[in-house]
Amino acid sequence: GYAIGSLLKDTGNVTYDPGFMNTANTKSAITYIDGEAGILRYRGYPIEQLAEKSSFLEVAYLLIHGELPTETELEEFDQRIRMHTMLHEDLKDFFNGFPRDAHPMPVLSSAVSALSTWYQDSLDPFNPEHVEVATIRLLAKVPVIAAYAHKKSMGQPMLYPDNSMNLVENFMRLCFAVPAEPYELDPDVVKALDQLLILHADHEQNCSTATVRMVGSADANLFASVSAGVNALFGPAHGGANEAVLKMLRNIHAEGISPETFMEKVKNKEDGVRLMGFGHRVYKNYDPRAKIIKQTAHDILEKTGGDELLEIAMKLEEKALADDYFIERKLYPNVDFYTGLIYKAMGFPEKMFTVLFAIGRLPGWIAQWREMITDPATKIGRPRQVYTGAAERNYPN
Ligand code: ACO
Repeated sequence: GYAIGSLLKDTGNVTYDPGFMNTANTKSAITYIDGEAGILRYRGYPIEQLAEKSSFLEVAYLLIHGELPTETELEEFDQRIRMHTMLHEDLKDFFNGFPRDAHPMPVLSSAVSALSTWYQDSLDPFNPEHVEVATIRLLAKVPVIAAYAHKKSMGQPMLYPDNSMNLVENFMRLCFAVPAEPYELDPDVVKALDQLLILHADHEQNCSTATVRMVGSADANLFASVSAGVNALFGPAHGGANEAVLKMLRNIHAEGISPETFMEKVKNKEDGVRLMGFGHRVYKNYDPRAKIIKQTAHDILEKTGGDELLEIAMKLEEKALADDYFIERKLYPNVDFYTGLIYKAMGFPEKMFTVLFAIGRLPGWIAQWREMITDPATKIGRPRQVYTGAAERNYPN
């Protein structure tokens, strides 16, 4: 490592801070986290209260506009979103260009980026009307694009949105209904998905959100910036962890390893094995989202007939919470430890897990981009570096 004193002498007045561990790039009034105490609030409201009493759409409004909507405001917001769910017919051809086994995350990011070619009337970052309509278009169309990416991977026909339904109901139907068969929504499952989306809606300056702000700081439009956020979220160290937890649980089950043996492997750092879904850069306490999700996992899995993998997850958690290795390092379950099990019980394939995260995080990305673009203190994101290459030398004659 560098000592700060010698760094300043060598490089002039710059701070060397890989991963921006100690550098605030912005002031923000959107989300508050206290990692030591395990506290998360959106616009001041505790996440536990929002998860219990609010809806995903209301939380989206809260994050983006700063205050909870009145009943009329929420109704208008909902109606506007319903009116924008249709994708341009030509955009449907776009999905045919990808291989059948394409991962839905790059399909989603490509389609979101492509929205700027169809909606050239809403690209000016400094025109509030453009920003407003781009916001509504993204909230309405991202779940539809996500459902189409899923249908494409299944080789099934894509249905048109049914605007008598709200955003979450419509998304479930577009993912799971097939034209020839009746489809009935389960209100408990819709409620559980709505709640999971609330819990993912914002998390201050995480990697994907910081990316959305960085791209937007060059005055790139909202579609381009959100598309970059989707790509950042695709990384296994970020949104991809929910998929990794399920893979871990499946392997433990398939190989018949006992939770005790697996924990020994983790603690001995054999082959770099980690207990996926545990630990967090900011939370050094039980992730407040994981507490709520654990209960939801029990409720939904009880309804859908249980899952042996849930038993394994619970045993691993119980062992970890009582183990000195985890206690000393302050490793607790994070948001991803139980989500995969719920998504699986709902019928989503593993490839869709990170897409569900993206749908949830969308209002946060939009809110943070809008805060960035209207903040007079915003400057184009342009970090400095500490040059370590060759000194000046001459090209050989
Ligand atoms: N299992 C076992 N040991 C762990 C785990 C884990 N899940 N997480 C951290 N540790 C250990 C490390 O080995 C290290 O031990 P050491 O001090 O003996 O070397 C110590 O705890 C500190 O770990 P770091 O990797 O330095 O912590 P960091 O803050 O950089 O990493 C991270 C946080 C990436 C989340 C890490 O805990 C991890 O890899 N967890 C598993 C993957 C995961 O669940 N990611 C989802 C994050 S949440 C999200 O993105 C929504």
